[in-house]
Amino acid sequence: MIRSAICGIGIALPERVVKNAELEKIVKTSDEWIVQRTGIRQRYVAGEGETTVSLGAQAARNALDSAGLSIKDIDCIILATSTADHTFPASATEIQKILGMTLGFAFDIQAVCSGFIFALATADLYLRGEMVKRVLVIGSETFSRILNWKDRTTCVLFGDGAGAVVLEAIEGRGAIQDQGILASKLRSDGRHMEKLYVDGGPSMTQTTGHLRMEGREVFKYAIGMITDVVDACFNIAGIGPESLDWFVPHQANKRIIDASARKLGIADEKVVVTIGEHGNTSAASVPLALAVAVNDGRIRKGDLIMLEAMGGGFTWGAMLLRW
Ligand code: ACO
Repeated sequence: MIRSAICGIGIALPERVVKNAELEKIVKTSDEWIVQRTGIRQRYVAGEGETTVSLGAQAARNALDSAGLSIKDIDCIILATSTADHTFPASATEIQKILGMTLGFAFDIQAVCSGFIFALATADLYLRGEMVKRVLVIGSETFSRILNWKDRTTCVLFGDGAGAVVLEAIEGRGAIQDQGILASKLRSDGRHMEKLYVDGGPSMTQTTGHLRMEGREVFKYAIGMITDVVDACFNIAGIGPESLDWFVPHQANKRIIDASARKLGIADEKVVVTIGEHGNTSAASVPLALAVAVNDGRIRKGDLIMLEAMGGGFTWGAMLLRW
């Protein structure tokens, strides 16, 4: 059977690093509060000329380089983002232009922080349906552009960045030992919209708007939703947490990550945590964390990895894959 396997990974971060101390000058907050409540020590913030498209294109180039491939080898680009450069066209088509891809197709997926998992799951079906051979899946965000920088309850939490993978169709045996995506579970529940949303949009206000979040409410649902879809992936694959080599969660809050891993029975040393350096980069957070653990040598060929994310909507999802 066909499996979708990651054969290249790359990231891109803005030049400017903003440490917690710098935020103390903008809003009434402290490094101590931010670290203790979230685990965030710094985040990257896009400067002039750095956008979702430019960061996404750079991450995609790096992923192609790491795969030893060129853009000619790619049939499809799927970009997960909630901070597109333009209302339309899809930022994926702008990335397509920058990369010089004139065949195939490109489009955006909007599932907020869960976007990268939704994009991977979509690419997996295109690959297994033999519609395409290789897909560039990108998560790229510039949340700094939709933050209210006067609101200390949100502006300290988010950062900008991009991560990308090349997903390729390979032959598998239909067994748990196969390389590639082994199980996925996606969910959403629109009843939770008001807990995390952006208060603008083309049809409603003709503005971009700013992010609004009831943090305590999001926190309340996050752990149950995350563990639910991760458990579903374990069940689909017929394995338990002891079989896992790495848990690569969405990086929203260190306390959510710790509590989810504890509830799932995943040992601390198997959890990849990058929130301290990146903050919450929404759809970019999972590929950024994955790339860090690949590049520092923790994740090796054959390792079994669980990805998960939860975000606005609410949307949430998990994916089990073998590297
Ligand atoms: N600095 C200092 N004090 C602050 C700050 C800040 N930056 N922000 C809020 N406070 C204050 C509040 O005003 C409140 O003060 P009060 O008691 O006088 O009213 C106090 O700190 C406690 O506020 P809480 O909201 O109860 O703090 P909590 O411990 O819940 O932490 C946080 C807030 C970090 C937002 C937490 O609720 C959280 O992480 N929630 C989940 C958010 C999340 O994961 N979002 C992303 C998921 S989806 C996505 O990624 C898009």
